[in-house]
Amino acid sequence: MAEDLSILQGTKAAQYESLLPQIKGLLEGETNLVANLANIAAALKEQFNWWWVGFYWIQEDELVLGPFQGPVACTRIKKGRGVCGKSWETEKTLIVEDVEQFPGHIACSSFSKSEIVVPVFKNGQIAGVLDVDSEHLAHFDETDRAFLEKIVDLIP
Ligand code: SME
Repeated sequence: MAEDLSILQGTKAAQYESLLPQIKGLLEGETNLVANLANIAAALKEQFNWWWVGFYWIQEDELVLGPFQGPVACTRIKKGRGVCGKSWETEKTLIVEDVEQFPGHIACSSFSKSEIVVPVFKNGQIAGVLDVDSEHLAHFDETDRAFLEKIVDLIP
């Protein structure tokens, strides 16, 4: 397993293209879920320096905070609540350009302005979500959706 990331500057797509095989390498041979989620959050934070990036994992009827990088965050989210709970309910990636316009958005941090939440599937079932917050409005787009969906698919 490679232990240092090589950080590339360039277009967003080029940055993801460079990161993707490195994340693959980080996960190779490791089956521990917490270790893998922690390294994915760290790799994304190191490459993109987003405000907050991390996982919420389904435990019974709630999403529970998992490995993340960034400021402290809310620990439990009900199905259908906030952007994360809505992504869980609909099993779809949600891109929110302005969190203040999203009904029921859960403001863990007042600095967060836009957000993308990507569902994570294991054995065909939704198991959790990847949540990314930015301090800039409209920071996430279809490029983020495409690559983040590929990245969470790598989780063994
Ligand atoms: N804003 C999220 C809650 C999680 S924090 O952003 C880390 C939401 O509305 O679901």
